[in-house]
Amino acid sequence: MESSLVRSKFSEHFGGKPGGIYCAPGRINLIGEHTDYNGGFVFPGAIDKCMTAEIRLNGTVKVRAYAVDLDDYAEFGLSEEDKPQKAWARYLFGVCREMQKRGYEVQGFDTAFSGNIPLGAGLSSSAALESVFAFALNDLLQFGIDRFELARIGQATEHNYCGVNCGIMDQFASLFGKAGSLMRLDCKTLEYEYYPFRPEGYRLVLVDSMVKHELASSEYNKRRKSCENVVAAIKSRHPEVEYLRDAGMDWLEEVKDMVSGEDYSRAEYVIGEVRRVLEVCDALEKGDYDMVGQKMYETHYGMSRLYEVSCAELDLLNDVAKRCGVTGSRVMGGGFGGCTINLVKEELHDRFVGEACKALREKFGREAGVYDVVISDGARRVK
Ligand code: GLA
Repeated sequence: MESSLVRSKFSEHFGGKPGGIYCAPGRINLIGEHTDYNGGFVFPGAIDKCMTAEIRLNGTVKVRAYAVDLDDYAEFGLSEEDKPQKAWARYLFGVCREMQKRGYEVQGFDTAFSGNIPLGAGLSSSAALESVFAFALNDLLQFGIDRFELARIGQATEHNYCGVNCGIMDQFASLFGKAGSLMRLDCKTLEYEYYPFRPEGYRLVLVDSMVKHELASSEYNKRRKSCENVVAAIKSRHPEVEYLRDAGMDWLEEVKDMVSGEDYSRAEYVIGEVRRVLEVCDALEKGDYDMVGQKMYETHYGMSRLYEVSCAELDLLNDVAKRCGVTGSRVMGGGFGGCTINLVKEELHDRFVGEACKALREKFGREAGVYDVVISDGARRVK
């Protein structure tokens, strides 16, 4: 569907022979939030919602890009001073520049792209955009870059061209996704493992609060800074510590007086969250979904009260889940808006979704989005 839309828009704008069509998905994350840039574990999966792009080399040193959903067009060169004004075009430009910085000779291309990942919902539409272009250029120009390096190219694009000092989770998930499996990634060693995830009798459902906070990127960067402050303090006593992941609560206690109360709470959340990912993996192996769900609620509490990346709408959705007896529920992704992810028994699904939508409407006048999660493959060529 997406690919036929992109195909017709590409041909309308650029004519001539068709290019290659590629797609890269958004992601969910079962547990392990704000742990990636702390060298901890994450547990994401790619979803069946993608960015799709048609790309054809144009024999120049210019990129000509048409954003179908925005009905917007941009043209830019490939030198640093050609950085486009438009925010969406910077993702494409950043990917090209990061490839060039790594010694690859990127050439000009024409592209039309479109996506069905809800924007600002915490489903990593921006990582999908980076990943689809990184994957496509690597394929078309036969650079032979491995998927981890493609993920790093996407991440560096966020850092250097989009102002978000993100971790590696979203790009990793978009590039490594596998249908029916979640992936546990150790963000320090980059070791990962696929976990088939088909919980009998349960569904994973996302409820979108429809809140899209403007402050998300600056607050995100502040959280990361807090973690770094605490690492620096711990390092003064335990020089081997590289990331918060390397520390336990005992080491955090030792430096309590050296860090601000706020930074302390941030670190307390992260240290707990790294542990929770491992606990959830153990519980999954035993088929203990009640334990998985309990950990999800603990994460929500931590993200809301200690890390302070929730908001009133998300807290309400979490409360409704608890009240309805949903097995697990929490804010997903970076926070400050977007979705809760809910592990809910089949028979409770409809009632919960109904109650959640009603509560959000009555209290905040917002119409929630509801998305069923289908765990899908990562970036690929479509045609
Ligand atoms: C955003 C970032 C990720 C990760 C999550 C929180 O999605 O892009 O790197 O930090 O937030 O887990």
